[in-house]
Amino acid sequence: MIIFLYFITGTQWASGQNKLDGSELWFTHMETIESASFACPSFIWIPQSSPTFTIIHKELKSGLNKLYNREVKDVSRLNSNGLCVGTSSQKDLSSYFKKEELSVLGNDGYIIRTTGNNVTIIIANTDLGALYGTYHYLRYLQTDNTHKANFDIVEVPSYQRRILNHWDNLDGTVERGYAGHSIWQWKDLPQKISPGYIEYARANASIGINGTVLNNVNANPAVLSIEYLKKVKTLADIFRPYGIKVYLSINFSSPSVLGGLTTADPLNKDVRIWWQDKAKQIYSLIPDFGGFVVKANSEGLPGPQDFGRTHADGANMLADVLESYGGIIMWRAFVYNPNGNDRAKQAYNEFKPLDGKFRKNVILQVKNGPVDFQPREPFSPLFGAMQHTTLMPELQITQEYLGFSDHLVYLGTLFKEFLNSDTYTNGRNSTVSRITDGSVYDDSITAVAGVANIGLDSNWCGHHFAQANWYAFGRLAWNHQLSARKIAKEWLMQTFSHDQDFLNQMSGVMMESREATVNYMTPLGLHHLMGWGHHYGPEPWCEISGARPDWLPTYYHKADSIGVGFNRSSSGSNAVSQYAEPLLSVYNDPALCPEELLLWFHHLPWNYELINGRDLWSELCYRYSMGVEQVKYFQCTWNSLQSKVDKNRFNDVQNKLAIQLKEAIWWRDACLLYFQTFSHRPIPSQLDQPKSKLEDLKELKFLKTHHN
Ligand code: GCU
Repeated sequence: MIIFLYFITGTQWASGQNKLDGSELWFTHMETIESASFACPSFIWIPQSSPTFTIIHKELKSGLNKLYNREVKDVSRLNSNGLCVGTSSQKDLSSYFKKEELSVLGNDGYIIRTTGNNVTIIIANTDLGALYGTYHYLRYLQTDNTHKANFDIVEVPSYQRRILNHWDNLDGTVERGYAGHSIWQWKDLPQKISPGYIEYARANASIGINGTVLNNVNANPAVLSIEYLKKVKTLADIFRPYGIKVYLSINFSSPSVLGGLTTADPLNKDVRIWWQDKAKQIYSLIPDFGGFVVKANSEGLPGPQDFGRTHADGANMLADVLESYGGIIMWRAFVYNPNGNDRAKQAYNEFKPLDGKFRKNVILQVKNGPVDFQPREPFSPLFGAMQHTTLMPELQITQEYLGFSDHLVYLGTLFKEFLNSDTYTNGRNSTVSRITDGSVYDDSITAVAGVANIGLDSNWCGHHFAQANWYAFGRLAWNHQLSARKIAKEWLMQTFSHDQDFLNQMSGVMMESREATVNYMTPLGLHHLMGWGHHYGPEPWCEISGARPDWLPTYYHKADSIGVGFNRSSSGSNAVSQYAEPLLSVYNDPALCPEELLLWFHHLPWNYELINGRDLWSELCYRYSMGVEQVKYFQCTWNSLQSKVDKNRFNDVQNKLAIQLKEAIWWRDACLLYFQTFSHRPIPSQLDQPKSKLEDLKELKFLKTHHN
């Protein structure tokens, strides 16, 4: 009942009023299509009923009404000029399709096809497949420019589980969240339900996301208390018709902290029984509960190693407990210790020996790069190396190291660069995407996770353009073959405008934005130069007495009078040895190593000559300056498009770009002035010279609370 009420009142789309404050996400620009490629159907037939089909019906009626300004009639049979949505169990519909084409759709895939009599059918094997097909149909009407008369679309998702990871704490704060407080109102649940929950589910379903981990990987054990589980159940009930499964991050020591046991040893009988009872309780409340994410023996959190057990012992115990319920364990590979060993090598060293030792319902969740969501990293060498273990990529949508919600940085290009990276572990074309989507290995589970950038801010993500990163994650989780540019344009059209000039200009800005950020923050493979703790702004000089060395920038850049960069070649930490040939040899040799990763793998002299003939120092100066120029160009482009954007969002983005430019200059000046104390070389005279002094920049203190 509650669901129904919010269904009517809760969505922005249903209200028919565009607020233009970003709250409508990519449903903002749903306006009458003037030059529509497709005629509006005259009738809708939805032969089945279920909560999901109720959503489908409502989305179609309201969507078509907005797009064509027409009230489309409901009918109860296939009519010419009609649109029909159903599952393959519906004989009237499935008879139009071959058995084989329906069987490959699996659970979530769909076909949208115009048959004779000008009838368009959206068919899937499940209600949820039909929902995804419906959202795609509406998206296609708005964004397609091929002007074909008929539909013939077949889509099957790249990954089975397409999951958002919220790093939301039970007290309402969000770790690395830059869009306000958590959207989960734990205090009010389960009694009071925020309308935002439905909007959240709808937005995710519209791009194919089908799972959400509600709480921070640094998990508070209390989330497994019955009090919280009842709240979680309420959310799961709301999300179910939209196909969003709920998962939880758990704290490995829950049996002792929450259950009062003397140990959390995974091989202890009482511990196992505690987890079994807990699972029983969870599944009695939430029968389709997805499973657990576990951050164990990482950054000080408890784990099986505290009891002399391995990661596999810990993961398998939990996997056995969830197995009969169909639950999975997403065990994170983000482990490293200040043990003197190169941090970039540690996850591989820890997990590679355990390859093949994990249960089938365990999936190792591996961050895209070997360190930590830097503006640019090579892919983690675990991808491809674990040939007998299922792996899932973890991407970061929230911009922890990329200017929070203040900088316009479109991550579609970063995600694509990673997914397209060839690991060469199983011959050529063993790209990360093919390694993880079941194409190379016969994985029974496939999944991908993105750390969410969502909060209570009215525009959900803090920066209007940060919504594009949530959108891009969902679209790539659905289809990793889509290009970053196509996704950017699709998003711009639905969010801002169909104006061709606007689309070309702003998709250009988006496509360049990540590289610009790499340039003004960490060009040529530099990494982790940001301030300690908060990770905002440049502090390559940062030294904190007593701090872990592997949390400090000097550990990563290793600047000295000779040069700069981390020697991970065979003469250094030999991290290159974790990559397959020919990558190993390519990364090992500075002359072959891609320039964008040069200082990731090599410590090179300031006068090292690059392909373009410049020495390393000058090239650093050029790249940092180029980043600043790129932001100036973003600013000019945005300003030139003022007449094409509503006032509110125009001003918001304009203000953010002003911050971004100021901070790009801050990054450039701080890094160049600091590195200059080692290189003792001048900044080339053609380039803008820093206006500040290094001493003054060192005094700048960033307060995280200003941004959160
Ligand atoms: C980074 C981040 C932490 C987070 C951790 C993780 O280190 O700064 O806030 O908890 O990653 O992914 O576990």
